[in-house]
Amino acid sequence: MSSSGTGTDWIASQGTPLRGTLVVPGDKSVSHRAIMLASLADGTSRIEGFLEGEDARATEAIFRRLGVSIEAPGPGQRVVHGVGIDGLRAPDGPLDCGNAGTGMRLLAGLLAGQPFDSVLVGDASLSRRPMKRVTVPLARMGARIDTADGGMPPLHIHGGSALQGIELVTDVASAQVKSALLLAGLYARGTTTVREPHPTRDYTERMLQALGWPIVFSPGYARLEGGHRLAARDIVVPADFSSAAFFIVAASVVPGSDLLLERVGMNPRRTGLLHVLRAMGADIEETPAGEQGGEPVSDLRVRHAPLRGIDVPTEHVADMIDEFPALFVAAACATGATVVSGAAELRVKESDRIAAMANGLRALGVDVDEAPDGATIQGGAALQGGTIESHGDHRIAMAFAIAAQRATGEVRIRDVDNVATSFPGFDSLARGAGFGLVASRGA
Ligand code: S3P
Repeated sequence: MSSSGTGTDWIASQGTPLRGTLVVPGDKSVSHRAIMLASLADGTSRIEGFLEGEDARATEAIFRRLGVSIEAPGPGQRVVHGVGIDGLRAPDGPLDCGNAGTGMRLLAGLLAGQPFDSVLVGDASLSRRPMKRVTVPLARMGARIDTADGGMPPLHIHGGSALQGIELVTDVASAQVKSALLLAGLYARGTTTVREPHPTRDYTERMLQALGWPIVFSPGYARLEGGHRLAARDIVVPADFSSAAFFIVAASVVPGSDLLLERVGMNPRRTGLLHVLRAMGADIEETPAGEQGGEPVSDLRVRHAPLRGIDVPTEHVADMIDEFPALFVAAACATGATVVSGAAELRVKESDRIAAMANGLRALGVDVDEAPDGATIQGGAALQGGTIESHGDHRIAMAFAIAAQRATGEVRIRDVDNVATSFPGFDSLARGAGFGLVASRGA
């Protein structure tokens, strides 16, 4: 997970107040699901707003290997010629999910229901991420999946298993786990029911419904039965709230900023950060801008405001699970302490995000106390320059690009190539908005 020293670094420093109007790229979670479900549908689906990031493209490449014809007529556009629920064909070798936990975990469920064997592999970071959270409940449905030691990838999925629908209560609040079980449930006999300890994003449920699969769902609950079919449908991917989040925090902490983010996806299971930032004193004006692809979207105008530390309510954790790196930076720029708890999941993301943020903020002179499930960040002191390890984690790299906008010296952020997994073009968009940010060959 640590920098190889051969990739790109960013040299980030204070720029100008953030101003203008931005549209961030398409949602990563929706892009993965759009490729998967359009591939399994009968007929041709057109996708608009597809995220041209490495994670979603890895999933697209996998479905091509599974026999699906996918055209890319222009940036963000895909035409998927669905092969039907039973139309995938055996791949000719291992399927590479790249850095994408979402790709691998959802595919584990989907491929467990196929008549053929498949092998899922990932990059160094993904190869260290826990997969038992999907393989254990999938085994209860009758799936046969071998993992490496400790339940890590690669996953060897044995096809031809007769899956049986069951009722499961997940141990962790994870949309990836829930979605893996529901996708296996498409191929299972009987009913698959999933209950979660905290509600998580429901894109799989919404998209299954939009493509005509009967499903019952409410926050924290989903139920479907096998044996139906999916009908092709055009899908519009809304802008990714998690990408917008970096600019929301940046405009909040850089004095003089006044930034408009247009048509941001506002699924309520994603927008916990807005509640928390507002409780810290942020000035975020939300104007609903209709719907895109069945999701509410809003224009968000963010103006700089002095922030104060808070205890982050644990009920918001699942709704902002990807936003903690950005929140840690907001906390460092706030007056007083911010306490994060109930967020142990952050330790098993693309990096250990609690350790990565705590170490990085300390390198900039911020006092941070780590806990197993969170941290206490003492805000208010001036941030200094320093060198930060991104640990090859896109969100750590982008979070420190924001921190640098408030630092008194230059911040070198090492190994930022992984930003392309979720937010290609972040650096030029950020520079255009006022960030001080240049790329440099890794030292
Ligand atoms: C995702 C779910 C979340 C999130 C990830 C995308 C999804 O992971 O962190 O970036 O698309 O379902 P968990 O389900 O592990 O919380």
